[in-house]
Amino acid sequence: MIVGLPKEIKDNEYRVGLTPAGVRALTDAGHRVVVERGAGEGSGFENDLYEKAGARLIDAADDVWAEAEMVVKVKEPIAPEYPRMKEGLLLFTYLHLAPDPKQTEALLQNKVTGVAYETITDRRGTLPLLTPMSEVAGRMAVQVGAQYLEKMNGGRGVLLGGVPGVPAARVVIIGGGVVGTNAAKMAVGLGAQVTIVDRNLDRLRELDDIFLSKISTLASSAYAIHGAISEADLIIGAVLVPGAAAPRLVTREMLKDVPNGAVIVDVAVDQGGCIETTRPTTHSNPTYYEEGVLHYCVANMPGAVPRTSTFALTNATLPYVVRLANRGLLEAVRTDPGLKAGVNTYAGRLTYEAVATDQGLEYAPLDEMLGLPGGTSTSAGGAG
Ligand SMILES: NC(=O)c1ccc[n+]([C@@H]2O[C@H](COP(=O)([O-])OP(=O)(O)OC[C@H]3O[C@@H](n4cnc5c(N)ncnc54)[C@H](O)[C@@H]3O)[C@@H](O)[C@H]2O)c1
Repeated sequence: MIVGLPKEIKDNEYRVGLTPAGVRALTDAGHRVVVERGAGEGSGFENDLYEKAGARLIDAADDVWAEAEMVVKVKEPIAPEYPRMKEGLLLFTYLHLAPDPKQTEALLQNKVTGVAYETITDRRGTLPLLTPMSEVAGRMAVQVGAQYLEKMNGGRGVLLGGVPGVPAARVVIIGGGVVGTNAAKMAVGLGAQVTIVDRNLDRLRELDDIFLSKISTLASSAYAIHGAISEADLIIGAVLVPGAAAPRLVTREMLKDVPNGAVIVDVAVDQGGCIETTRPTTHSNPTYYEEGVLHYCVANMPGAVPRTSTFALTNATLPYVVRLANRGLLEAVRTDPGLKAGVNTYAGRLTYEAVATDQGLEYAPLDEMLGLPGGTSTSAGGAG
């Protein structure tokens, strides 16, 4: 198969869909890889590393898309890329189609096979290509929170770990999944007093086993959350209800009891946020105050650390890329129902039910189109 790797063109996106190691894995398996010159530079991969791994460098993005049978990317295609998508192309990337009718129309009109990272499932029913970005964002949340707690950055001037004779900062993490657990690891490591809130008691039991007495766990309720955040220095929003907007667990009213200059990092902002006062911000203008509390609500946090994020993402995506290239789409999805759940568009039809429902379009089950037994998962994922 000819695999194409274009440079990402979305604003401030420095990740890339394949590392030189990924190119090597594909060329070793007998495939050809064409890489747009400069595609990896934002993540610290110079052109010659791709060439040494067996790729052919191409100057124009148009030519990469034209030559490739499968294009591997990070972010969903944006308007300048729509005309580059030719009929029958296999596109493997984050798509996030539900809120994006224009992109959906472009994929359907051009009869592109769109396989979305965010809807691929694994045997446990989790979303393996979202997990790495949640790990990055969870760990970053504490790093960012610590930075904004510093007085000159607008916070209340508290050191997360405290010092002997001065108590450590209180960190409240709402949601103990992938983001929450990774945030807790960092916060505990820095010596903060950490409380994790979750509605899933089994998850709280697991967290209690993992962290032993180093954290407190709290069953989720408005009362418990209000009490915990009233003494918090740093609040991290990390809840997810798959396929739905995040529940607003912290109200504006509750914030009136949070200390002035405390910091909120609402990682769940990409699903609308779990704090009533959350609104999406960007890396170039990341913070604002509400009720005297500093809010950081960047919707694509991993974009700040593209090199780490590219490695983390491609560690998870590469096995699928290689499988798609080796077996072709039909055989690959026939043997992997989780990968089949990633197929959002095929031959001009919408093959992912949740997206069809959200956009009021007709849903065409992939199984029926391909004559396969079984059904595809329809739960929608979060940020990429
Ligand atoms: N901003 C970014 O750059 C970025 C990056 C990665 C992930 N995210 C987002 O972070 C959020 C969390 O992702 P994740 O991978 O950790 O999800 P996850 O499914 O692993 O964890 C979510 C947790 O929230 C808990 N939860 C659900 N409802 C709750 C409630 N009412 N009270 C308390 N806990 C509740 C669940 O029990 C679960 O443990 C998602 O919205 C995800 O899209 C954002």
